[in-house]
Amino acid sequence: MNYNKKTVKDVDVRGKKVLLRCDFNVPLAKDGSGTITDEKRIVAALPTIRYLLEEGAAVIACSHLGKPEPDFDKWVKKQTEKGKDPAALTEEKWQKSLDGLRMEPVAKRLSQLLGQPVLLADDVVGPDAAAKAAALKPGEIMLLQNTRFEKGETRNDPAFAEKLAGLAGVDGIYVSDAFGAVHRAHASTAGVARHLPAVSGFLIQKELEIIGGALAAPKRPLVAILGGSKVSSKIGVINNLLELADTIIIGGGMAYTFSAARGGKIGDSLLEADWQDYANDMVKKAAEKGVKLLLPVDTVIADAFAPDANTRVVKDGEIPDGWQGLDIGPDTVRLYCDAVKDAGTVIWNGPMGVFEFEKFAAGTKAVAQALSETGAITIIGGGDSAAAVQQLGYADKMTHISTGGGASLEFMEGKELPGVACLLDK
Ligand code: 3PG
Repeated sequence: MNYNKKTVKDVDVRGKKVLLRCDFNVPLAKDGSGTITDEKRIVAALPTIRYLLEEGAAVIACSHLGKPEPDFDKWVKKQTEKGKDPAALTEEKWQKSLDGLRMEPVAKRLSQLLGQPVLLADDVVGPDAAAKAAALKPGEIMLLQNTRFEKGETRNDPAFAEKLAGLAGVDGIYVSDAFGAVHRAHASTAGVARHLPAVSGFLIQKELEIIGGALAAPKRPLVAILGGSKVSSKIGVINNLLELADTIIIGGGMAYTFSAARGGKIGDSLLEADWQDYANDMVKKAAEKGVKLLLPVDTVIADAFAPDANTRVVKDGEIPDGWQGLDIGPDTVRLYCDAVKDAGTVIWNGPMGVFEFEKFAAGTKAVAQALSETGAITIIGGGDSAAAVQQLGYADKMTHISTGGGASLEFMEGKELPGVACLLDK
């Protein structure tokens, strides 16, 4: 895939209407107050928004927020599958589920951060959005309602994409800065690019340059640290990185499937039995390719999955029944930290243990600290690893923390990203 895409600097936006796709899919407090609990994605979009406004564009911003279900019948079906009583699934409840994902909190915070009004439309491509977009002046910004309120969004419906693009008028421009959503082939992330000249904003440009650069021409040695609970969710990344990396480090819950595959005793630890053959194949493949593959040599075990569980450290493959591994052990920490010391580039995706519990955070913390001390380019995939680095206080020590969870994962898998492929090549 070509990552060398035109950016906002390659087009003249003065006096034009710009349809700007952001990833404002921010977490909201569970109490229904609309409080944004992490505003990083809004902050990350500010450079592009400010640039467009200063250059005299009228900005029509849009984003999805959460996973609303715009079709009542489908909503009932999904809720029923989750075990909810169908008799209690009223239209009123469905409407409430949508109301909880309206864009008001985002518009409010964006306005505060920009220091100027952000006009909020009541709909996505309906009469209110159309009227507000038509009246929007250069230097002004509006925000559409949640794009996923429209049935056509996730199925990339051509008619909906055309309507959305139409808000920017005949000489409009599409700017995508929604890196977190570029792995989705939706109407607002890909479909609209069929109707407007499409370029990237600064956030996508930065993510492509840094992650793309590390994958295409890494400063070596390239060390990939892969953690998280499931081997199955990391297969694509492991396969791709086996072709690129000099060293692959495995931690987190998925390490126990590797251990079991080698005949180790893993007690009650997480096991994906169906993936044991794959784990063994991978060890073999790494050896054939000359990729150094590091697996845990010891592990912190607990007698329950709980923050106050009793703990012990045992050798890999020696976990008694009734106990489960929840973090890498101290010898493994030393091994892994040594491996990143002289790295040229480190890519990290997935925590080393259950870092949310203090007793099992040491492995993840030590790796984060080692990354903060190496001279290597350090790239943290979004999602859990980004949350860990933030929570443990190392965020400002990393070269780059991706704003994309699924998107950065698919990028590292070497997959084509529809929201990038649709942008104009340089
Ligand atoms: C994310 O949070 O990873 C992006 O906003 C994409 O969201 P989605 O998984 O709901 O498509």
